Amino acid sequence: MVQPENNSIVIFGASGDLTHRKLIPAFYHLYANGLLPEDFAILGVSRTSYSDEEFRDKLKQSLTENEKIDEETLINFCQHLYYQALNTSDKDEYAVLKERLDTFKEMHNTQGNTVFYLATPPSLYGVIPECLAAHGLNDETEGWKNLIVEKPFGYDLESAISLDKQIHACFQEHQIYRIDHYLGKETVQNLLVFRFANGMFEPLWNRNFIDYVEITASESLGVEDRGGYYDGAGAVRDMFQNHLLQVLAMVGMESPAAINADSIRDEVVKVMQSFKPLSDDDLKNNLVLGQYTESDARGKHFLGYRQEPGVAEDSRTETYVGMKMFIQNWRWNGVPFYVRTGKRLPTRVTEVVIHFKKTPHPVFGENAPENKLIIRIQPDEGILMSFGLKKPGAGFESQEVSMDFHYDKLEETNMLTAYERLLLDCMKQDATLFARTDAVRACWKFVQPILEYKENPEHLFGYAAGTWGPKQADDLLASSNREWRFPCKNLANTDYCEL
Ligand code: BG6
Repeated sequence: MVQPENNSIVIFGASGDLTHRKLIPAFYHLYANGLLPEDFAILGVSRTSYSDEEFRDKLKQSLTENEKIDEETLINFCQHLYYQALNTSDKDEYAVLKERLDTFKEMHNTQGNTVFYLATPPSLYGVIPECLAAHGLNDETEGWKNLIVEKPFGYDLESAISLDKQIHACFQEHQIYRIDHYLGKETVQNLLVFRFANGMFEPLWNRNFIDYVEITASESLGVEDRGGYYDGAGAVRDMFQNHLLQVLAMVGMESPAAINADSIRDEVVKVMQSFKPLSDDDLKNNLVLGQYTESDARGKHFLGYRQEPGVAEDSRTETYVGMKMFIQNWRWNGVPFYVRTGKRLPTRVTEVVIHFKKTPHPVFGENAPENKLIIRIQPDEGILMSFGLKKPGAGFESQEVSMDFHYDKLEETNMLTAYERLLLDCMKQDATLFARTDAVRACWKFVQPILEYKENPEHLFGYAAGTWGPKQADDLLASSNREWRFPCKNLANTDYCEL
């Protein structure tokens, strides 16, 4: 594998959770696997004042808390870590940042190549690029300069457009890397290879053979300690607008002309621009919003969403969204995509299920199993194909059986985590797995009517924590004799209410 060029990485928001939980572990693993550049410097930036040593100690502690770390590798890794206290809203203070980056050119031979990672509250996403530009830190005369922007990229269509304008005033599109960590998942990338490297699926991948597509991203956790943020966002902004629509685009896109960032992202954006705009009727009939309520399920007691820390007592924020939507093009005309995500559902699973049409004539009876292709994004990553088989014995009754593949069966699997993959790609100037400006905009445009509707929805359904969400989401499919792979109806606890 080609190593990235030497560079400096500046992490804004260095004392935050994301840095400790995701970014530093990702850098450490890349380092331990020999995937980082020959030389590099990571500079943590935030308001709190620490010395380099104190910062290193903190990171060492959080790294060793969660996993077994090789002592010697850790000591060597830490020699690349530095810290700079900075008021990130104060332009003048960036002179110090520039000086430090200059010293890294000598100490670590970075040649001016720099990644700026915005792991701060979103209110600073526009400010930091401006301050960087004021000190010429966006200038690529000497070394490349990449800016990674965490999600959420905007709060709605208007704010996303205005944030884009602010950032584009200082950085060019090729320098901007908008993170959607779902695109960093091995199994999401595999959608491309699976579809376009195998001649046997592509001919079936359209309205003639597919009855409907289901995308489920279910989480068993609640909002944990993120109630303050989540209550202002909700499932539509937190998961649907970005992660789920990206996955949907990978399922629905056409074959790219070549495997490079532009060709792939051209096809992705085309699908997003083909989402059928939502009418008032769609919002009323094809959208189900829910919020988890207090419950005892499977021997455990769960708090309701409104009882979580940081959440308003009378909150009407959705923790569940389920919807039926369409892609308006030749390939998909008339094929419904059922998409749902929720917190405090029975299990953690993200999967895409392709439900193929039944045979034209039900010669073995109406109950013969349908063909399903299940692409398991996480956990237990894999692919499963289910089909009908004759039940051994007399007669011609059929039963459903399956063939499956699990990633852990691969002999040498060194699956990078999403953050590892994305950080590495950014250092290699490969933007394929980052959201392009037009894609972000197309998704917000599609979602905007939902954002307006959910301010005052006709229904917000309570679902007992630990169940598969509001049973009304089953009705989205039931009217066409369809079903989610995990429907609500199989659950004993059907404690639903209108909130
Ligand atoms: C994040 C959301 O983007 O994705 C979280 O903010 C959510 O609320 C998380 O839990 C899910 O990611 P994953 O990789 O665990 O499916």
